[in-house]
Amino acid sequence: GRLVQSYWGPRLLRPEDYPSPAVALAHASFSAPNNAAREVYPGATSLNYTEPCLQLTFADGVRDTELRFVSATRLNDAELRVELRDRVYPLVITLHMRVVPSGDLLERWVTITNQGAEPIMLSRAWSAQWHLPDPASYWLTHLGGRWFDEMHLYREILSTGTKILESRRLTTSHTHQPFFAFDPVDAPADEDQGNVWFGALAWSGNWKLCVDIPVAGTTRVSLGWNDWDFAWLLAGGAAVTTPRAIFGHTTGGFGAASRLLHQHVRADLVPHPTTERLVLYNSWEATFFAVDVASQLALAAKAAQIGVELFVLDDGWFHGRRNDSAGLGDWWADPEKFPEGLNPLILGVKALGMQFGLWVEPEMVNPDSDLYRAHPDWVYHYPTRPRSTARDQLILNLGRADVQEYLIAQLDRLLSEHDIAFIKWDMNRNAGEMGWDDAPGDPREVWVRHVWGLYRVWGTLRDRHPQVIWQSCSGGGGRADFGMLSLADQIWVSDNTIATARLAIQEGYSYQFPALTMESWVTDMHREALSLAFRFHVSMCGVLGVGGNLLHWRPEELAEAARWIALYKEIRPIIQFGSHYRLRSPSQHPYSALQYVSADQQSGVLFAFRTHLAEPAILPRIFPRGLDPQGRYQVEGFAATRSGAAWMRDGLEIPLGDFTSTVRRITRVE
Ligand code: DGJ
Repeated sequence: GRLVQSYWGPRLLRPEDYPSPAVALAHASFSAPNNAAREVYPGATSLNYTEPCLQLTFADGVRDTELRFVSATRLNDAELRVELRDRVYPLVITLHMRVVPSGDLLERWVTITNQGAEPIMLSRAWSAQWHLPDPASYWLTHLGGRWFDEMHLYREILSTGTKILESRRLTTSHTHQPFFAFDPVDAPADEDQGNVWFGALAWSGNWKLCVDIPVAGTTRVSLGWNDWDFAWLLAGGAAVTTPRAIFGHTTGGFGAASRLLHQHVRADLVPHPTTERLVLYNSWEATFFAVDVASQLALAAKAAQIGVELFVLDDGWFHGRRNDSAGLGDWWADPEKFPEGLNPLILGVKALGMQFGLWVEPEMVNPDSDLYRAHPDWVYHYPTRPRSTARDQLILNLGRADVQEYLIAQLDRLLSEHDIAFIKWDMNRNAGEMGWDDAPGDPREVWVRHVWGLYRVWGTLRDRHPQVIWQSCSGGGGRADFGMLSLADQIWVSDNTIATARLAIQEGYSYQFPALTMESWVTDMHREALSLAFRFHVSMCGVLGVGGNLLHWRPEELAEAARWIALYKEIRPIIQFGSHYRLRSPSQHPYSALQYVSADQQSGVLFAFRTHLAEPAILPRIFPRGLDPQGRYQVEGFAATRSGAAWMRDGLEIPLGDFTSTVRRITRVE
């Protein structure tokens, strides 16, 4: 009666082509079949020492589960629902399995239902487990970093034992990403070919990714809510549903894996899948907290002059916000900085032909704010502990319905009373004392309830103001995940806007998420060392923005910026909606390249970057990808037109000096 996984690999022709489940055998008293069974959703059970998906305590103190198959219902061509039930207790696990609408990825999540009257205490409730083909050992590729240095690629061979990646921070985190990719040690994949098994979790709070290799050669990977400081009190008759975990397999290497995920984000997740993302200006790095109508309109005039389409007023605009020690929570315009409210600025921006966007950080409160003075009990805290601030702020308890309602009302008013096209939703600290006096259920549910509250507030506002484009930010890329991308159209990938550093950050980001979601600004960081062209080229690889102090840019710099923005507007459909090819890695090589190709293979864009290479440098050939082999293409800068096959086979040489870059259009001529 156990549900076991028999296969994970390329799609086979017929159902009968799939292998039968392997029979798990005991080979000693220390190794019962339980241990070797490839269960789809294992509960913690007797004689099994591998990682279960589910751990719980029944009301009578029994702590193991014996899950048995009950039924499978095919809901439609893409969705299967499987029911498991404990042999003795009224516990039902509903496994949801769905092929994502854009195809070729599976998503899995579970609903855990207590059909009895006695409560059940859950201490782990993961979304899914998958078993890799065995016997084999694998490379694990994953992503992580820290604030200002996110999304680095890590690659390691796993041997026996358990590898855990996680967040305990209340956000997805800058530190690790809930993403994995495996390829076999004896046949490693590259960008273009090879078996890759990959997956991710669509969740924006504490998560855990666990790779368990109980015996060398057998690898299982699980994804779900973090079970650290986790409990869920499942009352009689209650149910709880976990987030979606996404899984895929390809024989087309890491490039194909990423393109499947990109397609999923673009086709199935983001609220505005077909809307071209506007070139934006963000005033943060130019004016920090010193914002008022005059300073912003001065920047806006320059921004409009170079072709910016959306002007975003960042931090500093709301009640009492002199610096980062005050104001969070009071979401109305500061009367000293904006005596007549925000509308004079908005009207000025609109008169310049741009749309207007605004920064908020709704989950936070400064102790120095009207909101905190009125509701000191609304933040997470323990009565006997100090309230630890970070950046002088505390975290509002978004599990509470009254806090959710307050935020919905405040932000709804802001959006209703102003012509706002874009909201940047920031979150600038991680969890502290996560106490909640009168929490429903177990107090440790707080980690999940906060994210549900966040989704509810944001989702309600989205529904009421569907035209708004939202950006998810948490001090840069601290909250970039597939859960967020159902709400946000764009992600602020990193506070690090140094173009050379950003190359690797953007490369890591591209493993999961498409360029359509990757906001990237040209700022003044390292402006003395890096040309404007290099800085623009890096930012043009995603959703182009500008964040430097335009009042300090020389006329010739403004003119050059205008030319890059004009070019970007021409090529952005290819970048934002095309297929992404990583041609040569910037984290591995000082000379790197990437390319986008339109879905109809009529046009492409190629970017190449050189940082430092010792002279005399032998430059690599760059091999374009994704062209129609039969088509004939012109590559900008090359006189000859050649077939797609020829360009892809022979590659091209693009001479670049140290710290220079290029963007080349690829056009199909036949
Ligand atoms: C962190 C963000 O990443 C920055 O872009 C900026 O919005 C600041 N917060 C504002 O406080």
